[in-house]
Amino acid sequence: MTTIHRRFALAAAGLAAVLALAGCGKQEAAAPAAASAPPAPPAPPAARVLVVGTDAAYTPFESQNEKGEIVGFDIDIVNAVAKKAGLEVKFVNTPWEGIFNTLDQGDRDLLVSAITITPERRQTMDFSQPYFDARQLIAVRSDASVTRFEDLKTLKVGVQNGTTGDEVVGKLLGKSNASIKRFESTPLALKELEAGGVQAVVADNGVVAHYLANNAGAGFKTVSDAGFATEQYGLAVKKGNAELLARLDQGLAGIKADGSYDRIYAAHFGAASK
Ligand code: ARG
Repeated sequence: MTTIHRRFALAAAGLAAVLALAGCGKQEAAAPAAASAPPAPPAPPAARVLVVGTDAAYTPFESQNEKGEIVGFDIDIVNAVAKKAGLEVKFVNTPWEGIFNTLDQGDRDLLVSAITITPERRQTMDFSQPYFDARQLIAVRSDASVTRFEDLKTLKVGVQNGTTGDEVVGKLLGKSNASIKRFESTPLALKELEAGGVQAVVADNGVVAHYLANNAGAGFKTVSDAGFATEQYGLAVKKGNAELLARLDQGLAGIKADGSYDRIYAAHFGAASK
């Protein structure tokens, strides 16, 4: 075949494929070579793979391993939920900033990202039943004299922008206080604590504790405060997507009942939940 011919053949094949995909291609047009073979039965409509958005910079809940795969507690939970509920999912790394908009835009079908269910967020999206309890935890340098949240009033404090940590620190220091340093990710805030650019970081306990356990050299300690409310993580879907929500809740109930939730919990946090 000459190049021109090959190009034409490729273009024709491409056009046939497009027509077939669009549902208007005739059998002969899509596969002329197989004209003598009996027509294949129409393929069953493939279940749509749900796109799950996650800000994969939040170990041990979601992160990217050396191979670039998205892994973590949240990922295992959603995979188990999907299996139970007969859903197919794929994970797409999605920056926290703007993550909630992706639901409305239809770019993501659901979000898992250690997302705290809050009354404000409930106004713009729907949440599954809670699947994890958390609270805020303070990280400071080991030699800091901080013993409670109030002590952060006079310090430079790092938070991940738009998180519940940002919210509580905003309440203490005043939302527009220049002493609040807002970062794109929680690891960046913790790096800045190490560098001395901030004197404290407030973030979810699981992530702060994990960072300390794995970065002994950073010279941090944690400070807890009984004033921090209990937060609950949920899976988020577009507001009004009751069908998907019901499937997710069904899956969650299923993995809690059959022990898989506890196994996943133990694999990441070392002991059975509750
Ligand atoms: N739980 C906190 C919140 O909902 C922080 C979540 C941040 N998650 C993440 N993957 N970066 O605001």
